[in-house]
Amino acid sequence: MSATNLGATPTPSVDHLIQLITAGASDASSCTPELADGPWVADRVDGYGPGSSMGDVIPVGSPRQGSLPAEYRSASEDELDARIRAAKATLGERVVILGHFYQREEIVRHADYLGDSFQLARAATQHTNAEAIVFCGVHFMAETADMLSTPQQRVILPNLAAGCSMADMADIDSVTDCWNQLMERFGERSADGRASVVPVTYMNSSAALKAFCGSHGGIVCTSSNAATVLEWAFERGQRVLFFPDQHLGRNTAKAMGVPLEQMPMWNPRHPLGGNTAEVIDDSRVILWHGFCSVHRRFSVEQIERARAAEPRVQIIVHPECPMEVVDAADGAGSTDYIRKYVAAAEPGSVIGIGTEINMVQRLAAEHPEHTIFCLDPVVCPCSTMYRIHPGYLAWVLEELVAGRTVNQIQVPESVAEPARVALERMLEAVPQNSGATPGRG
Ligand code: 13P
Ligand code: SF4
Repeated sequence: MSATNLGATPTPSVDHLIQLITAGASDASSCTPELADGPWVADRVDGYGPGSSMGDVIPVGSPRQGSLPAEYRSASEDELDARIRAAKATLGERVVILGHFYQREEIVRHADYLGDSFQLARAATQHTNAEAIVFCGVHFMAETADMLSTPQQRVILPNLAAGCSMADMADIDSVTDCWNQLMERFGERSADGRASVVPVTYMNSSAALKAFCGSHGGIVCTSSNAATVLEWAFERGQRVLFFPDQHLGRNTAKAMGVPLEQMPMWNPRHPLGGNTAEVIDDSRVILWHGFCSVHRRFSVEQIERARAAEPRVQIIVHPECPMEVVDAADGAGSTDYIRKYVAAAEPGSVIGIGTEINMVQRLAAEHPEHTIFCLDPVVCPCSTMYRIHPGYLAWVLEELVAGRTVNQIQVPESVAEPARVALERMLEAVPQNSGATPGRG
C-alpha cells in the first residue's frame, strides 16, 4: 500500500526498518541517512537531530545532552535490552517508566505505562510510591511530570536534548509581548464582565508558558481534550489566545463552529501579530504561528493517492495536521484516539494514518488483521522523540542502581506553582477513557 510498509509482516521497529533502508535491503526510503547513527552523534552538534524537525531553528540555550559513556554507545541492542531489564528488576517499584506512543519500539517494550500526553500527565500524579519517574518522551512532558508528581520524586529525561520544536516556537517573552498588546487594546475585562482574552497553551509548551496561563486565568489543553478546554475558555472569556500549535487550535475551533475569518494568526515579529485592529477586535481565537514538523509532512495529495489505490481505505490523522488534511480525513484525534480507532475497526480494514511513524509501525505490527500504513511514504520520525535511545535508558537506570541521579528535570517552584493552576484545570477537563495503558515493561 505504501513504501513505508514492510509488506505482510511489518516490524514494529522503525530502527530495524532504518537499518534495512541503510543496507539497501528495503524499498522504503528515509528522510536522511543520519537516522542510522546513534543519537549521541547528534548530541555533539547544535540542532534537533535527524528526523522531521531537523530543519527547524533550535533556540539558543536549549538543553544539551552531555556525552553518553562509551559502553552504552557501543553496546548491541540485545545487551542494552538485558541491562535495562536487569536494572529495572533491581530497582523494582522504586522506579516507574512512562513512555509516549511515539517512542521507538526498543523503548516502548520497557515502559510500565504507555500513553498520550494527557494520560502520561495523569500517570505522573498516580505513582507516588516510585522514587523516580523515568520519562521516555520529550522535555515538556518531563517538566509536566515534575510539576505534578510529589516533591520527593525525581523525574528523569534519558536524553536532555529531547525537546520539541513546536514547543520552542512560542517563548515567554513573545507571548508576554502579545498579551500586553491585547490588554492595551481590550483591557482585562469585556463589557459583559468576562475576560477579554483567555490564554490557552497546548501541553507542548514550556513550563513558563503554563505558568503564564495559570497566572492569567488560562488553562492547558492536550489534543485529547482541546474541545472541552476551548468550551471552558469561552465560558470565561470573549476570545482565546491559543499557542503554540496553530493547527490544533484551528481544527478544534473550526469543529466547534468558529468561522475561519475569526481565527487570525499571530506572528510575533509584527505589531498586532501582523493583523489589522479590526481583525483582532472581531477575533474569537487568536492562533500562534507554531506547528509540528512531523504532522506538517501530511498532505491532501497523500490521502488522494491512498484513496485512488484502495477505495475502502479509512484515513485517520492527528489534529496537529493542517486543516485541509483533517478535513479530507475520515477522522482526527489524539494518539490514543488513533490507537482505539484501530483496535475497534472491523478485521480486514485498510487504515492510512497521519501521525508519527513509530506509532504507526507499531500499530501495523500489533494488528495483523488490518492493513495499516503511514500516509507519509518517507520514514521520518520525530527528531526529538527519537533522541531517546535504549543506550540512554540503560545509562539513567544503571546510574539509579548506583545511587546517582542523572538528567533530572526540575522546574523552579516559582514557575511550577502557577503552572500547576493551569494544569489542574486541564486535568479536570477529562477526555473519555483517559487512563494510560499498562505497558510491557
Ligand atoms: P498526544 O499524545 O497528546 O496526541 O500528542 C502528540 C504529540 O505531538 C506529542 O508530542
Ligand atoms: Fe513536538 Fe511534533 Fe515531536 Fe510532538 S511530534 S514532540 S509536537 S515535534
